[in-house]
Amino acid sequence: MIDYIVDGDGVATITWNMTDRSMNVLNEGSIAAFKDAVGKAIADKTVKGVIVASAKPDFVAGADLITLFKDTSAKAVFDFSMDLHKLFRTIEKAGKPFVAAIPGTALGGGYEICLTCHRRIVADNPKALIGLPEVTIGLLPGAGGTQRLPRLIGVRNALPMLLEGRKVDPKTALGMGMVDEVVPPADLLKRAKEWILAATPADSQKPWDQKGYRMKDAAMTPAGAQTFTAGNAMLRAKTFGNYPAAQHIMSCVYEGSLVDIDTAIRIEARYFTACATSDAARNMIRSLFISVGEANKLANRPKGVPTQAYSKIGILGAGMMGAGIAFAASSAGLNVVLLDSTQEAADKGKAYSTGLLDKRVAAKKLKPEARDAQLALITPTTDYALLKGCELVIEAVFEDRAIKADVTKKAEAQLAASAIFASNTSTLPITGLAEASARPANFIGLHFFSPVDKMPLVEIIRGKQTSDETLARAMDFVKKIRKTPIVVNDSRGFYTSRVFATYVNEGLTLLSEGVNPALIENAGKMAGMPVGPLALADEVSLELMHRVRQQTKKDLGAAYKADGSEPVLTNMVEKLARIGKKAGKGFYDYPTDGKKRLWSGLAQAFPQKPEAEQPDVQDVIKRLVYIQSVETARCLEEKVVIDVRDADVGSIMGWGFPPFRGGTVSNIDTVGVKPFVAECDALAQKHGTRFTPPKLLRDMATEGKRFYAA
Ligand code: NAI
Repeated sequence: MIDYIVDGDGVATITWNMTDRSMNVLNEGSIAAFKDAVGKAIADKTVKGVIVASAKPDFVAGADLITLFKDTSAKAVFDFSMDLHKLFRTIEKAGKPFVAAIPGTALGGGYEICLTCHRRIVADNPKALIGLPEVTIGLLPGAGGTQRLPRLIGVRNALPMLLEGRKVDPKTALGMGMVDEVVPPADLLKRAKEWILAATPADSQKPWDQKGYRMKDAAMTPAGAQTFTAGNAMLRAKTFGNYPAAQHIMSCVYEGSLVDIDTAIRIEARYFTACATSDAARNMIRSLFISVGEANKLANRPKGVPTQAYSKIGILGAGMMGAGIAFAASSAGLNVVLLDSTQEAADKGKAYSTGLLDKRVAAKKLKPEARDAQLALITPTTDYALLKGCELVIEAVFEDRAIKADVTKKAEAQLAASAIFASNTSTLPITGLAEASARPANFIGLHFFSPVDKMPLVEIIRGKQTSDETLARAMDFVKKIRKTPIVVNDSRGFYTSRVFATYVNEGLTLLSEGVNPALIENAGKMAGMPVGPLALADEVSLELMHRVRQQTKKDLGAAYKADGSEPVLTNMVEKLARIGKKAGKGFYDYPTDGKKRLWSGLAQAFPQKPEAEQPDVQDVIKRLVYIQSVETARCLEEKVVIDVRDADVGSIMGWGFPPFRGGTVSNIDTVGVKPFVAECDALAQKHGTRFTPPKLLRDMATEGKRFYAA
């Protein structure tokens, strides 16, 4: 796990080498072995200095969050943090030079080891990422990162790294002072050894252990005062206090900048404990780290189906979605036949990839040869015969049953019997679309999100006749193109569109009740959603929502339940001709020369209640959040979603449900099933049956159950 050798020149090398894992990580075993090796090197009088290295392409990727906190009591977390601090201080004060030889990525606890060493030398590896991303899973760097980074590079530079969890490449890290040298990969260990052999006693002392050390931009300096004041205000505006880790990082850096390092790391350990035991961290670690990891490993893949290798796929429709999928598939090295009804449209679809790749070349993130090789994989065409040999065809033509049926038949005529046919429809039930297919067992939904190159989620929809084998092979495809799959059963709006719509509709309903639109939008953002429901409606397009609504009404007949959002939508689209952002006017105005503004005519179109009768913002937040969770519970009850982890992952990655809430299901656990049911009953009484909790939740409340074990 940790190799230890001392060479003839008295240079010890401690090498991280966790052979049973793809990456080196900090866990109970590796920390103990590292501590052991450090102890040996310090005790051995013949050892002049120590290289901390890695036998893998990367250094250490961070802490193993799955096993690290077996005991999540505050005392256990605090003790864990203080133990690491003691070890790291031992290195800093060993009186021997320690140098981190960093071949690749060093993140979180991995980079904190580097910060502890007296020098950091990193290989010129363009794939390497360096940083402290803990905040993105609700934690703070708990092994000295909040104290050593500001001491090394100053508060002003360190705060954005810590608060945004930014990861930078070696050259950027060098520019910021986060590392000391960038060297060719082959010279890494040689350079580290040279440094040790030339090191003076001052080299093995940290600046902050030297007399008269002053931290740059510390709290009581004029620059520090300005940074902390502005930083706090910005943080508040961005997070609305929903992310305790960010607030705790601020406090750590502020308080830590006023004291010596040994006091500072105790302060950090205290705040780390507060973070690690918070609901936000538990939710974010569970959903963003553990559940996403399991989804990426295809935890729900039907067993016993051999893995499908992909080399060639077809895409029908080279519009916005088809072009994006072609980019994703070619990025994974697949040949793509991109078909549209005219050559011009097909070429335009390919040009989308050219544009994205050109940008990467211009930013020096990609070599021109690599761009050309990827573009050569995409064949734009109108000729169905080119689909021969495709293992999978994804249809992304207009949202029209007849057109979809037509292209399905034409494509299938060219395909081998085993090939899969997938539809990227966003609203049409898969089982119905499969009626056009000669082999409905091989027919499936692959619902991508826009823009495809940025959105990591794919919602896989099983039709009634979709086989296990098709599902398994479709999951292999999603993995191949490095996206995260969730699996759902066929239903109107599937899972993501169905639940997402409840957020938007609740916003429109609030408007219909006379609630101030600014209050609605702020409540959405304060709830932790990326944008308010009215802005989101504009982005989706009010016209599209209206069209889908009319179709749903027609399909459901008497079973259709109207809510307050319907007249708002009809009014906006049919009477006011304000159809959304694309047209430059919806709930907002979109001036070409400035920021969007709520439309000044809203108050007249939807008369507002007097100020004294406006609801409390917390009540509005509750409605906007709870409606999504209660609809998710219905999806679980109806078996539209089978795995609660998929529901959580899909809600965060699909439509930006607040990560600190852990997803729509974790949110119910965080509130507590019983109180959640009681609050929904109260909401239902006041606002309508859409809040009525389904039987599944009532039963769980009665039996004292929760969705996740803890
Ligand atoms: P789009 O209008 O940008 O592209 C559709 C493309 O299909 C056009 O290039 C059109 O020329 C082509 N096409 C139409 N009829 C054809 C035919 N008979 N043969 C070959 N090509 C034909 O539409 P977009 O937005 O890319 O949507 C495509 C599909 O993806 C729809 O089913 C939509 O519901 C679904 N979808 C859309 C999302 C979005 O955010 N726009 C998100 C997820 C799914």
